[in-house]
Amino acid sequence: MQIPETLKKKAEEFVFRYPEDKRQSALIPLLFEVQRELGWITPESEVWVAETLGVSAIKVREIITFYSMMRAEPSGKYLIQFCQNISCCLMGGVELQRHIEEKLGLHPGETSKDGLFTLKCVECLGGCSWGPMLLVNEDQYFQLTTEKVDRIINGLRAGEPVPADNPTPLLGNVAGEKVS
Ligand code: FES
Repeated sequence: MQIPETLKKKAEEFVFRYPEDKRQSALIPLLFEVQRELGWITPESEVWVAETLGVSAIKVREIITFYSMMRAEPSGKYLIQFCQNISCCLMGGVELQRHIEEKLGLHPGETSKDGLFTLKCVECLGGCSWGPMLLVNEDQYFQLTTEKVDRIINGLRAGEPVPADNPTPLLGNVAGEKVS
């Protein structure tokens, strides 16, 4: 697989931001760029990133397999990552997970036949005060209810994604509605 020119250009930009001996600082930004462009971090792109930044292949692998936001395998157009950690569970996350699975017709780790959705259950996503929460690709949604989840998924199916929640949501913030 050829690495697209757009990615090579991005890599140059990222590398330019750091001193010569600190090139590896561009590792995570560049991996994110790869998955934005290719949909996931392919084995070939993984090798290319290591060579471009002068870091070992094992270092790149460590990063990809440690962070749940890194896509180490192909996934649907919308990767839904649902938090199953304690704060979200206490706020109804367990029941909500069942609802999402039924709504999508998927178990965690599966991709829908139409290639639209992949469902993944992950550990804390960093929005514990506003749980339950999930991520759709890089968009965050907080204070989930079954009704809010339905609105988010229906919006994606209709090609009209519900705007993501603000990173510092206020109580009562509901997807698609203004916060007063
Ligand atoms: S426990 Fe769910 S975001 Fe932290």
